[in-house]
Amino acid sequence: RVKEQNLQMCADSMYFDLFTLQGWVRSVRSQKKNVFLHVNDGSSLQSLQIVGFFPSLNLRLLTFGSAVEVTGVLKKSPHPKQPVELEAEQIHVVGKCNPVDFPFKIKERHSLEYIRQFPHLRCRTNVFSSLLRVRSQATTAIHSYFKDNGFVQIHTPVITSNDCEGAGELFRVEPSGPAFVDDTNFFSVPAFLTVSGQLHLEVMSGSFSRVYTFGPTFRAENSQTRRHLAEFFMVEAEISFTQSLEDLTKVMEDMFRSATEHVLAHCAEDVDLFHKRVTPGHRMFKVLNVKLLSLRVTYSEAIDILNRSSENFWGCDLMTEHEKYVVKHCGNLPVFVTEYPYDLKPFYARDNQDHPKHTVAAVDLLVPGVGELCGGSLREERLDLLQDRLQDAGLADTYSWYLDLRRFGSVPHGGFGLGFERYLQCILGVDNIKDVIPFPRFSHSCLL
Ligand code: 4AD
Ligand code: MG
Repeated sequence: RVKEQNLQMCADSMYFDLFTLQGWVRSVRSQKKNVFLHVNDGSSLQSLQIVGFFPSLNLRLLTFGSAVEVTGVLKKSPHPKQPVELEAEQIHVVGKCNPVDFPFKIKERHSLEYIRQFPHLRCRTNVFSSLLRVRSQATTAIHSYFKDNGFVQIHTPVITSNDCEGAGELFRVEPSGPAFVDDTNFFSVPAFLTVSGQLHLEVMSGSFSRVYTFGPTFRAENSQTRRHLAEFFMVEAEISFTQSLEDLTKVMEDMFRSATEHVLAHCAEDVDLFHKRVTPGHRMFKVLNVKLLSLRVTYSEAIDILNRSSENFWGCDLMTEHEKYVVKHCGNLPVFVTEYPYDLKPFYARDNQDHPKHTVAAVDLLVPGVGELCGGSLREERLDLLQDRLQDAGLADTYSWYLDLRRFGSVPHGGFGLGFERYLQCILGVDNIKDVIPFPRFSHSCLL
């Protein structure tokens, strides 16, 4: 007779005779005979109100954070805010939680900085569990976008011998343990944790016209900033037969909008809670549906916006403060910056030979509060130009396999990478990247 479902699944239903809920106590109130509890099982922000009379239970065990299993009958609730409540027949305290030692206190609103000190416990707070549900929905949304648009998912390797031409500082992979004391060269070549799956995707784009990957990426950046992690998740796509940077930019724009609409449609409550409690005034969602990501400026125009003399500044990279300034100038809306100087971008970026200033067909998406969210380019598909560029960089031997891709059925193509944590920062308005990943890794910190 007992149906076990999670709270999310039974949200609108009152069809169960008996219902068992397993979860964690969010609040407790005792009145003469009855005890009122709110219990949450993590499936949604909603807690279920439990009403019961438990004469044989030591009520002191029912504390904020304790784990319980309650069985009872779901009834229509007299309170308009909650459609149903559970009239409990049995309750079992599965795991006690000492309120004195538990770092989170009932009815207290802890800041993200405070809860960050407890990476093993912070998912017990409403705010962080909301964020993790949004993260999970956003992951689904991104996969759905690619599935709906004919992309094939590729599992690019985590361990690799290529460095994607200096996309970031590398972590070297070496074996450990007695069997390897004298042989640290396990792979016979230096091996690293991946900094980008781009080159592997480019291999695949020679057979599947649209491919993507979504996985962990590693950079040994020594910067303690609010937008860098040593381990972050990157969404990367590669599209063959793409003729213009604008085609590529459209895909970036489409993916951003579609994923964000999906998150809003499926996680509105969690997003609302987050905005109310943590980031009041954050306006990303409000502007999204009205003004789409239609703003584009060239790198040269960005320099004008920065009020820098083009003569001195042209060729310099845009720093975070520059990016944020450009975004602000553009009405605090997302903006695509295109046509970067040739020397600023890696060898694979497509040469705009006809431009008076030497540029490549590269694009970065800059967003409010974060700066660079996404980087992409058309790839140099012309064998002779690529060969020259690799030769000049002394990389022709290392990348001979890459040149092969241009020898056999080369097509115009392009791709991009989006930092998933920065995306979450952007849509939720979170200031510090360490607060949007379950277990942040950064220099001098690898907790758990
Ligand atoms: O701009 P990046 O370095 O581009 C690439 O790696 C390309 N190979 C991607 C491609 O075209 N397939 O990185 C892409 C994005 C950045 O725009 C940023 O959002 C994010 O990855 N990112 C980081 N996010 C968190 N922590 C870090 N240390 C990051 N480094 C880059
Ligand atoms: Mg970049």
